[in-house]
Parts: sequence; C-alpha cells; structure tokens
Amino acid sequence: MFRDIPYDTKIQQAINAISSNGAFLTVGHNGTKNTMTIGWASIGFFWGKPIMTVAVRDSRYTYELIEKAADFTVSIPFEALQEALHFCGTKSGRDRDKFTECGLTAQPGRRVNSPVIAECDLHYECQIVFKTKMNPDLLAESCQKWYPKKDYHTFYFGEIVACYERE
Ligand SMILES: Cc1cc2nc3c(=O)[nH]c(=O)nc-3n(C[C@H](O)[C@H](O)[C@H](O)COP(=O)(O)O)c2cc1C
Repeated sequence: MFRDIPYDTKIQQAINAISSNGAFLTVGHNGTKNTMTIGWASIGFFWGKPIMTVAVRDSRYTYELIEKAADFTVSIPFEALQEALHFCGTKSGRDRDKFTECGLTAQPGRRVNSPVIAECDLHYECQIVFKTKMNPDLLAESCQKWYPKKDYHTFYFGEIVACYERE
C-alpha cells in the first residue's frame, strides 16, 4: 500500500538516493512503456507548480518515447533493486522488455499514463509542462566533460501531480 505525501516531504532522501544509487524514469505512451535509470534530477518550484526535472540524452530509447509522451514517472528505491538499476541503466528497451527481465512490476499511474515501478519506495508522477534541449554553447567549461561524444541532454520539466510512498 502507498500513501500520498506532499511533494516536498522527501526531497532530501529522494535526491540523495537518485544521485548515489539511481532511480527509475518510466515513460508510457500509446501502449508502449520503458524504464531507464537516472542519476540526475531536481525537484523545485516553477510556474507556480511543484516541478521535477529530468535529463535524457538524445541517444536513449527513452528519449524517443518521452518526446511523444505527455508525462513520466520517477520511482525511487531507497536500498533494494541495485541489480535492476544497473540493468536498466546499461541495457536499452529498444532490444528487450526490461520489466520482464528484471522482474519489475509496471503499476498503473494514478494521475498519468506512465506507470510507476511497484517495487520502489517513493513515486513522483509528472505531467510534462516544458522541455528544453541543451545549447552546448551556453554550458560552463567545467561541465563540458560530461559530453565527450556530444550526446547532449534534453531537460523535461514535469508538474508533480502525485507523490506517494510505501506505507
Ligand atoms: C546510475 C546511472 C545513472 C544514469 N543517469 C542517466 C540520466 O540521468 N540521463 C540519461 O540520459 N541516462 C542516464 N543513464 C544511462 C541510461 O540509463 C542508459 O543509457 C539506459 O540503458 C537507457 O535505456 P533506454 O535506451 O531503454 O532508454 C544512467 C545510467 C546509470 C547506470
């Protein structure tokens, strides 16, 4: 069972877990779904709304899906699922069904089309309200090291329309 919580209750735990172990970014669109591991995200407040921002490189299968989708979810495991995080962060959904191969349950979203990963502890459901492709000319020299292959990110800003944790 999961219980709703205000979007900002667990920001510190969420960002710690995402940046140290990773989380699942899941996108569903027109009956297709995929999940991939993310290590970067932010939770904040723009346009009078609570917003989660994720960064997806153009080479990802997830990029193809999220470009067509209206929403995404971020599901965070606090300790478990290390193997699944590794698998979903190194294998592409173009070639395989990561849910089946990792034994992950795609649980229907409460407020969005994209599912969440039922085995996780904390979930954010996000409706995309803005996206922006990186302009590498505007990036500080100190961050250029992340793009040796010029595989830049697009940033997706999602209004957090549901946030809930495992009871
Ligand atoms: C710990 C970790 C964090 C990652 N963070 C991101 C990220 O924030 N953005 C991104 O585009 N790729 C990230 N990746 C890489 C993708 O998860 C990986 O390329 C994945 O296989 C893409 O899957 P897809 O092709 O099914 O979308 C990360 C990988 C790992 C292992």
